[in-house]
Amino acid sequence: MKSRTFRSFAKINLGLEVTGTLPGGYHELKTIFATLSLHDLITLRPRPAGIVIRSPHAGVPCDETNLCHRAAVRMQGLAGHARGVEITIRKRIAIGGGLGGGSSNAATVLRALDTMWGLNLGPAGLIEAAKSLGADVPYFLVGGPALGLGRGDDIHPLELRLDEKVLLVPGAGGVSTAAVFREFAAMNDGRARTSRIDSFLRRCERGDVPPVGSLRNDLGPAAIAVSAPLAATARVLRAAGRKHCATLTAMSGSGSSFFLLFTDAAGCQKAASDLKASGITTHRCSFVSRQAFTSRFEVRERD
Ligand code: C5P
Repeated sequence: MKSRTFRSFAKINLGLEVTGTLPGGYHELKTIFATLSLHDLITLRPRPAGIVIRSPHAGVPCDETNLCHRAAVRMQGLAGHARGVEITIRKRIAIGGGLGGGSSNAATVLRALDTMWGLNLGPAGLIEAAKSLGADVPYFLVGGPALGLGRGDDIHPLELRLDEKVLLVPGAGGVSTAAVFREFAAMNDGRARTSRIDSFLRRCERGDVPPVGSLRNDLGPAAIAVSAPLAATARVLRAAGRKHCATLTAMSGSGSSFFLLFTDAAGCQKAASDLKASGITTHRCSFVSRQAFTSRFEVRERD
């Protein structure tokens, strides 16, 4: 049976604020997501029965614990049949780096099977399945710039044009999300602070789009406090950002990836060269609009 291949894009958090605590001890977030051109490739081949996961990467579990496997089970439930699928995952997005790779892969399986099995439920019909798989999964049903509330799973698409060049510094895990949130709680007294995201969105509504450099990741200081290697990397990145006029140097999610944004390609290129000389690997990429998130979803023969 014919296989089809789909792009599973990465995300960054342009800004992330912790706004409170939720029942169960989770932290309530307010975040602005953006999609990056960096993507994994997910190939789906129909089978008469059974869900099979394949991946050439050692860090990807090929059993029922894989989020893609769980996503396919959810789709069987929504479809009301037990048709099978073989899912091959080719990774380019750093695993456990705050770039949403696993969540994106799961959302890709939901969206792809929605089409391949002719269910046509769309984002509204897939949202509950996405939420049940993880807090970052719902974002990857829509992509592009979006506001995330609650656990980051209450998604509101934003009309925001992002033209900056992105220099991504992929982190390969190393910091525990739970430890970062614990440290955040220890460092902060819980008092409400002025939300930079609220001011940013108010100005966007007035048509007076502010620079993304006004945004911050509240978890940055906590991640740096729990990881000395991360703190050292952050210092080098901030210096490179200042030298080459980055509009924003920030961490994504709870780490350990960072990104720098530039208005011009030359600054981005020079910062990449400087960082390479310091032993830091970077990846140049661009933002993906919500429209391109959909139109570039499937890899066609001519691509
Ligand atoms: O989402 P994930 O399972 O990776 O989160 C790991 C831990 O990080 C949670 O068990 C919780 O302690 C903390 N966390 C949180 N608030 C969030 C997300 C994670 O407190 N919004």
